[in-house]
Amino acid sequence: MCGISAYIGEKEAVPILLEGIKRLEYRGYDSCGVATIFEKELVCRKGAGKIKDVNSKLKLFELKGCVGIAQTRWATHGEPNDVNAHPHFSENKEIAIVHNGIIENASSLRKVLREKGYNFRSKTDSEVVAFLIEDLIKEGNSMGDAFMKALKLVEGAFAIVAINRKKPHKLYVAKQSSPLVLGIANDGLYVASDILPIQKYTRKVVYLQDGDVGILTKSNYSIRDLSNVDVNRDVNELNEEIEETSIGNFEHFMLKEIHEQPKTIHRAFRGRIDNDTAKFGGLNISEKELKRIKRIILVGCGTSWHACLVGGYLLEDIAKIPSQVEYASEFRYKKPVLKEDDLLVVLSQSGETADSIAAINEAKKKGVKTIGLVNSVGSSIARLVDGGIYLHAGQEIGVASTKTFTSHLAVLYLLSVYLGRLNGSLDSEKAKEMLNELEGIPGIVSEMLKDSSKIEEVASKYFEGNNALYLGRHYNFPIALEGALKLKEISYIHAEGYPAAEMKHGPIALIDENMPVVVIAPEGRLYSKILSNIEEVKSRRGKVIVITTNGLEDGFDEVIKIPKVSDYLMPLVSVIPVQLLSYYVAKKRGCDIDKPRNLAKSVTVE
Ligand code: AGP
Ligand code: GLU
Repeated sequence: MCGISAYIGEKEAVPILLEGIKRLEYRGYDSCGVATIFEKELVCRKGAGKIKDVNSKLKLFELKGCVGIAQTRWATHGEPNDVNAHPHFSENKEIAIVHNGIIENASSLRKVLREKGYNFRSKTDSEVVAFLIEDLIKEGNSMGDAFMKALKLVEGAFAIVAINRKKPHKLYVAKQSSPLVLGIANDGLYVASDILPIQKYTRKVVYLQDGDVGILTKSNYSIRDLSNVDVNRDVNELNEEIEETSIGNFEHFMLKEIHEQPKTIHRAFRGRIDNDTAKFGGLNISEKELKRIKRIILVGCGTSWHACLVGGYLLEDIAKIPSQVEYASEFRYKKPVLKEDDLLVVLSQSGETADSIAAINEAKKKGVKTIGLVNSVGSSIARLVDGGIYLHAGQEIGVASTKTFTSHLAVLYLLSVYLGRLNGSLDSEKAKEMLNELEGIPGIVSEMLKDSSKIEEVASKYFEGNNALYLGRHYNFPIALEGALKLKEISYIHAEGYPAAEMKHGPIALIDENMPVVVIAPEGRLYSKILSNIEEVKSRRGKVIVITTNGLEDGFDEVIKIPKVSDYLMPLVSVIPVQLLSYYVAKKRGCDIDKPRNLAKSVTVE
């Protein structure tokens, strides 16, 4: 899922490449490296670690040359060490490549090449591509033909950029499943995994399509498909600037993003409330078609999947449309039975998640309309779906999602109201009341964020534990999952989220006096039910941390008070303390909160 940056042009490449991969570090930060061609030599520096550290240790910035490639890696094949860092070279060191994705037939290709006498240096799947190109050149092919032929031999997902010492005025690019964008400017051509590194230099971009193979010079480019036929790709004009984000006075981006939520929730509904219904600019599906929808399938991964779970409840509860929630990675392979009156709703912060993209393709193949609830403007998912609703949450830098989760919830609530009004399940008065309540949520969340001392106190009591259980029911069950995921991601404490009533079917065996159990138990329809579940925990001497609107009951180890709102909107409120709890626990444990180990912000491999 790495980030790729490449440049060919008039300017020194390395400052552009380093800035480029820094902007893409959200895609992975296991290792990084740069290769350029300078005075007929192919030079490279690379190493394990984050860009800042590798750069100060190896002085990547010293490399010279006006053509170069760089990568920040998220390892799939081979541990994140110096040797496995990209760029990778052909055996004769004439060709260097960077790769994003997975070469699925790498081991069989390696075997063939080994039999021909080649010796590999790394454990990556990627290296095989450089060796293949070398081998094909030895067979008499030009670099361009060898590049094309090598790509026909590899299976899987890739965005690849290659350079050849003997062709110092060319960059070779290819895309299959993983994203790659070209930026066209007067001073050269820019290549990157997304527009973030490019937008500063040019507004003109070409999104490569699957199967595209391109050859770039400093002032020109040509693109062919894998059958070697010239293809024309539109040059798109970027019209939305992705804002620069600074950390401000916050210690971490994650904390900043948690605190941004009053604003980002507001942005999610701003301009979308129309008296007794919601309105969206980009659904691209007519009201007539929407009225025909018999089932909604929500798909996503990770935190976005948790938002899908809340969305499923909302859509059934408010719009009375049967809704089903699927992990994108399962949905794509389970041979889903889909009908034309289904609607696929895809949730994604990054808009680049490979499994979610595959789920959309699966639905499209079967004639099902798709809409995307996406944060990243112009991302692959945003471009692929029939219609969509942007979250407008601004760039999320912390790898653990926070603000985009609540934006997803706000948008799903609006969508449920809109569909409920459209199909007559929701009357005008109730809709007005519901929309009115949504408008009050930013103020409520803002008040909550003024004082987190109780949560910090709880964190300092429990941060040394090895396990935690999170429980919730109905709308708060996904919040239990989200609380557990946040804790796992940034503090590396093993945590599980469960529907509170499911606990007795197994996880109850884990409970003893060392097990903190966070129960999201606001007053509401199932309050008395969840109080009984809490009793079950207490009887086994578990430590009960209750997040509740009440807090008057005795016998809880800790009570974190939250304001009372309707059941529908409670997840927007009840998620705040679980986000903060994981943050303060991770801080106490001295973890790298914004860049937790092994993770990446955008998961572009399956
Ligand atoms: C969130 O904290 C995670 N880092 C992760 O689960 C994420 O939600 C998931 O990878 C989906 O990403 P997306 O929303 O960009 O598609
Ligand atoms: N599969 C390659 C590797 O492990 C690239 C992974 C990526 O896309 O980050 O190096």
